Amino acid sequence: MSEGAAKKGEKPRKFQAIRGTRDLLPPETALWNRVEQTAHEVFGAFGYGEIRPPIFEATELFARGVGGDTDIVSKEMYTLVDRSEKLEPDPSIGSMNVFFQKVRELYKSGEIPTDEQDESALKIAEDQWKKVDDLLEGGLKSESAGTEIYKLVLFYDALRLGTRVSLRPEATASVCRAYIEHNMQQLPQPVKLYYIGPMFRRERPQKGRYRQFYQIGAEVLGGTDAPAIDAEVIEMVMTFFERLELRGVQLSVNSIGCGECRPKYVELLRAELLKVKDKLGPDSQRRIDTNPLRVLDSKLESEQGIIAKLPRIGDHLCKDCADHYAAVKRELDLRGVQYRENWRLVRGLDYYMRTTFEITAQGLGSQDAVCGGGRYDGLVELLGGPPTKGIGFAIGEDRLILSLQEARKEVASGEWRVASGKIGCDVYVAWMGEKAYATAIRAAKTLRAASFSVELPPVEQKFGKALERADKLGAKYALILGDNEVTSGEWTLKTLTDGSQQKVTEPQLLDFLRKL
Ligand code: HAM
Repeated sequence: MSEGAAKKGEKPRKFQAIRGTRDLLPPETALWNRVEQTAHEVFGAFGYGEIRPPIFEATELFARGVGGDTDIVSKEMYTLVDRSEKLEPDPSIGSMNVFFQKVRELYKSGEIPTDEQDESALKIAEDQWKKVDDLLEGGLKSESAGTEIYKLVLFYDALRLGTRVSLRPEATASVCRAYIEHNMQQLPQPVKLYYIGPMFRRERPQKGRYRQFYQIGAEVLGGTDAPAIDAEVIEMVMTFFERLELRGVQLSVNSIGCGECRPKYVELLRAELLKVKDKLGPDSQRRIDTNPLRVLDSKLESEQGIIAKLPRIGDHLCKDCADHYAAVKRELDLRGVQYRENWRLVRGLDYYMRTTFEITAQGLGSQDAVCGGGRYDGLVELLGGPPTKGIGFAIGEDRLILSLQEARKEVASGEWRVASGKIGCDVYVAWMGEKAYATAIRAAKTLRAASFSVELPPVEQKFGKALERADKLGAKYALILGDNEVTSGEWTLKTLTDGSQQKVTEPQLLDFLRKL
């Protein structure tokens, strides 16, 4: 019997979506589709094309791209070993030595990436196998045989037998990988790409924070780092949010300098933080060492007064960065984009330089960042490509939807319910009798081909019941087809909002509905 099968008489296990993941259900999915359709339209209007990168990539790509010390890479990735195809499935104990030999060969040729730990894990497993092999020769008489075999299984399980792959925690690294892989630097620059899809981070779930969440993002790669590009990218997100009528949108911008000026500022910041170390919480204390910039992110009430007095990066930018930042702000003004400057906006990924920005919206509680982005000029090179400019953003689609829903709750208008597709039925075909059924199928086909949404009951219903159901579904019209209608060729169309009724012939139906 397979592992998952229920034993006789036992209730089969009920499954639930894994913590931090959820089902998106109708009618809410209609809103998701509307948001995504708007993204296609707005981003298309700005000259972006859609890219759909894979959902998993080499772990190394994210470790290098996003940064090994970031929370995302160090704690939050879903990683698994994609077993080398050159290895047979689980070997029997008798053929373990051949198997280990093969693993050694693959380590050596680099076909299975390896480090010191992997090598010593292999050695431990091999030694254990020898022990078990001896026991086998003795006919497994020793009392400890079971334990030793169990240990062998554990050591074997701990071996790395393939490449590490991770579910993507974000997509910027993937887009850069694709840019390099497909030689996009040969295309007219810059290349403008956008993506929509799920990302995975093992964070603590709460409102607006999930382990599988969705991003709508865009990246501009190649060409120059003209400040107008930064401003246009931001203008595009703001246009998108405006089109969706997102409420309470606040844009914060900052510049975090470049490889020239940032390290000097970080040292200065570290020195200042060391002076106040004992007044800081444990997280910030740790970050003085690992990444002092992240201290600026702190939301701890007790640290706010201290942080306010720290040196600000804006006062320590090199001339090029200061000029770039000033020009980005001018370009935003030219486009009528309203923003606030926030010198503490450093962002949690390693690849950023110069422009960083974040957008918050209403109704989201503590997780109110609905979009984050910035410039990352060194990233493509870091991933093995040519020196390439880059800037982009990602919108948290779950949060965007939450905010839209919160705003709509306030308005609570029936109109919105219809517009959002909550009620997805235009015509309910109420039919009775076999002859009418054939006509009903034909009518449904014609209406659906003309993009009306149609509900066709699969079994006969009395007209009263049918109309009740049509009402429940929020249908706008009921097309009533009984023997009379079929014989006379005159169908009855009932407008459910006001109860009025009219007769229409089959050829008139579409025109009639379109005019209403
Ligand atoms: P990020 O700030 O890590 O940036 O994520 C962008 C947005 O994704 C956040 O502002 C938030 O709305 C949403 N988000 C992040 N984590 C979660 C979660 N666990 N649950 C729900 N929503 C979440 C990036 O990912 C960068 N790749 C953005 C970028 C693109 N920078 C340049 N290009």
